[in-house]
Amino acid sequence: MSRIVMGIESSCDETGVGLVRLHDDGTVELLADEVASSVEQHARFGGVVPEVASRAHLEAMVPTAKRAFETAGLELSDVDAIAVTAGPGLAGALLVGVSAAKAYAAALDVPLYGVNHLAGHIAVDTLQHGPLPAPCLALLVSGGHTQLLRVDDIAGKITEIGSTVDDAAGEAYDKVARLLDLPYPGGPPIDKAAKNGNPQAIAFPRGMTGPRDAPFDFSFSGLKTAVARWVEAAERRGEPIPVDDVAASFQEAVADVLTAKAVRAATESGIGTLVISGGVAANSRLSSLAAERCEAAGIELRVPRPRLCTDNGAMIAALGAHVVAAGCTPSSLDFSANPALPVSTVSI
Ligand code: KG4
Ligand code: ZN
Repeated sequence: MSRIVMGIESSCDETGVGLVRLHDDGTVELLADEVASSVEQHARFGGVVPEVASRAHLEAMVPTAKRAFETAGLELSDVDAIAVTAGPGLAGALLVGVSAAKAYAAALDVPLYGVNHLAGHIAVDTLQHGPLPAPCLALLVSGGHTQLLRVDDIAGKITEIGSTVDDAAGEAYDKVARLLDLPYPGGPPIDKAAKNGNPQAIAFPRGMTGPRDAPFDFSFSGLKTAVARWVEAAERRGEPIPVDDVAASFQEAVADVLTAKAVRAATESGIGTLVISGGVAANSRLSSLAAERCEAAGIELRVPRPRLCTDNGAMIAALGAHVVAAGCTPSSLDFSANPALPVSTVSI
């Protein structure tokens, strides 16, 4: 008998409600993925304002859930289990989703699972490409995180191999976009501008690629500073900023480092599949360079479609379904959101 899992996401600036069907054979089917974003309310601040995000979640939660049930053609009473992002994320924002999930779970008398947002970014790929081979390697690149993860079991065993020592990849995109007077969030406009630019125009630094550097850690703050210095120098000379070339050269530096380290990690640990997910996985150059390098190294590459890469409720529903399928114990109704939940804790 298949089971319906509802997923609720509210860790940052998207309120997401997803519905999936967990089939008896363990496959997970996407039924609805509704997202309400408060990104426009943050744009003029150049970054997410936590209080604004929390209030927007509060207003969007119930309407977003209603839309998800309408899209799926389901009733609340059809739900067999609920999963909610317990962390990591913004404390006030997480609290809204966790409170809503507890209310739904109590009202419907169904088990509730507090799950990890980062693991959700990986689990979402199963909605598009089917079950994940074990082990696989995940490159998680979002506005708040940049990590290389070894995934032995999406429902329970995820180990960090490396992470950023300063800015996240998406954060670097957002900061560089600001320097170039491009809108927030910076990923999409930089991706677009880069298409008209020359990626070899400016030799920006590749952070943490020296022989003494940790091979699987990342650093993007030096790159961001290098872009800032380059733009300032051009301005001092009174020259117009070649936005397309700066965007393309910056993007090339990011994609180069991310893909080189991911392919090396997979090769050295004998892992045959790489999953790239998180908002930055929507980047066109990152996916094309990853495809090129994975093919050369004989690694299977899986990148979920852009809509699944950015924050959404379907990723939490998908992870919830895998956690349910694995027979994990539900969370007790008094669990708290944990803004610093480590990736090794898949469900709490
Ligand atoms: O995963 P996500 O939606 O939210 C977090 O959990 O952080 O990621 C958002 C990040 C933002 O920094 C945004 O600029 C970046 O993903 N992003 C992109 C692209 N689309 C979104 N970065 C590069 N290229 C893109 N096409
Ligand atoms: Zn995310």
